Parts: sequence; structure tokens; C-alpha cells
Amino acid sequence: MDQKIFEAVDRYISDLFIPPDESLAAAEQSHSLENIPQINVSPNLGKLLYLFARLSKAKKILEVGTLAGYSTIWMAKALPEDGRLVSLEIDPHHAEVARKNIDRAGLSSKVEIRVGKAIDLLPELVDEKAGPFDMIFIDADKPPYTEYFEWSLKLSNSGTLIIADNVIRDGKVLDQNQEDPMVQGAQRFNKALAANRNVSATILQTIGVKEYDGMAIAIVE
Ligand code: SAH
Ligand code: DHB
Ligand code: MG
Repeated sequence: MDQKIFEAVDRYISDLFIPPDESLAAAEQSHSLENIPQINVSPNLGKLLYLFARLSKAKKILEVGTLAGYSTIWMAKALPEDGRLVSLEIDPHHAEVARKNIDRAGLSSKVEIRVGKAIDLLPELVDEKAGPFDMIFIDADKPPYTEYFEWSLKLSNSGTLIIADNVIRDGKVLDQNQEDPMVQGAQRFNKALAANRNVSATILQTIGVKEYDGMAIAIVE
């Protein structure tokens, strides 16, 4: 078993379950066209986010880390007519490209992208009483994941689904001597998530067309 078969099976699954979609394809292409790193979720994980949003009957979704809006589009597609998604992004160029991609997908009336550091924007959302959100997807810079999680709890109510991407980092989280701050951020977050009595959680290992990683899935009690 190796990466080659994981990729082939991931493609087999996406060929079966993800019909061609112009706006998602255009969003994916925008990464190379606009020189934006291709660190968006894979198509099958985008579909999983969509299914999670449907399962939680989300009307309000918060995303931390927009990039070019690929995951944003998947989640926003799951929203009802009066649904809303707020996505936080530090890089103005990413935000600009994301807005175009979201507009092309016909979702701009439901999606608001806020530009700034997530650690500043999250308390603003609390002050505005923008919560509670039904689903929160944490996918920005990895070192402050624990802080993003704590702010997410303040923007949650009982039943809120909190998802965090990239918490396994190629299995490097097993190594206690890791000096990579992204791995350390995931280790600290995973520990905090497991210790928190206000959530019930697990981690799904993710394999396929992207690097071996994992998504934490938590429900607020
Ligand atoms: N959710 C996206 C991928 C996000 S990649 C998808 O799957 O399609 C991580 C994003 O977080 C990048 O766009 C990066 O610019 C942004 N980011 C990094 N540090 C941040 C910070 N401190 N606050 C907000 N966004 C940040
Ligand atoms: C990175 C960030 C991500 O959100 C991701 O899914 C993969 C990689 C990164 O910053 O390396
Ligand atoms: Mg990610």
C-alpha cells in the first residue's frame, strides 16, 4: 500500500460522487493562475465538509482560513437560502481571488470574507454577537489552532460542529521531539481538544490526492 493507490482510489471516489462543477473547477484553477499555494482541501474532503454542513443543518458557518475559497464554496453550497458563511483570511490577495471564485459560484450573497488576523477577528465576532455558528471549520495557520478553538467555543452553542484540518501532519504528531511549529501547533491542539470536557471529538485520518493528514471532528456538548 502506498501513496499511489491512495491517490488512485481518491480519484475513483471523486469520479463516482462528484459531478463536474464549473465553479469548483475554476476555483481550483485559480490557485495556479494567481500563484496561490495548492493547500486547499481535496475534492472528496470538500464533499465531506458539504455533507457535514448538511448533517448539522447549518444555517451559520464560520471558516478560519479562506485561501481561494475552495472549501468555502463546498460549505456554502450546503446552506439554505437564508444561510450565511463568514470566512476569515489574513492575505488580501487570497481574499480577492476567493471573492471572485465565490461570486462565480453564485454564492456571494451568502458569504462574507473578512480580511485580517484571525486572532483579532474572532474576538470582534464575539463582540458583535455574530454567533452562535452551527459549524466552524478551522484551517488557517497551525500554531494558534488551540486559541482558534477556544474562540470557536465562545461562538458555539450546544450541537455546534467544530472541524479542524491538518492535525496529523504526515504522522509527525507522533514525534514528541518535532521542532516544526505547525506540527507543535497540531499536537497542542489535539491534546487540548481531547482534554476539553465541553466537546466530544475524534480525528479522521485523511489520505488521498493530498498529503497524509487528519481532520479533527468535534461536537459541542
Ligand atoms: N480552507 C482553505 C485552505 C486554507 S489555507 C481550503 O481548503 O480551500 C490557510 C489560509 O489561512 C491561507 O489562505 C492563509 O493566508 C490563511 N492564514 C494564515 N495565517 C492566518 C491568520 N493569522 N489569520 C487568518 N488567516 C490566516
Ligand atoms: C498547509 C495548510 C493547510 O491548510 C493544508 O491543508 C495543507 C498544508 C500548510 O500551511 O502547509
Ligand atoms: Mg488545510
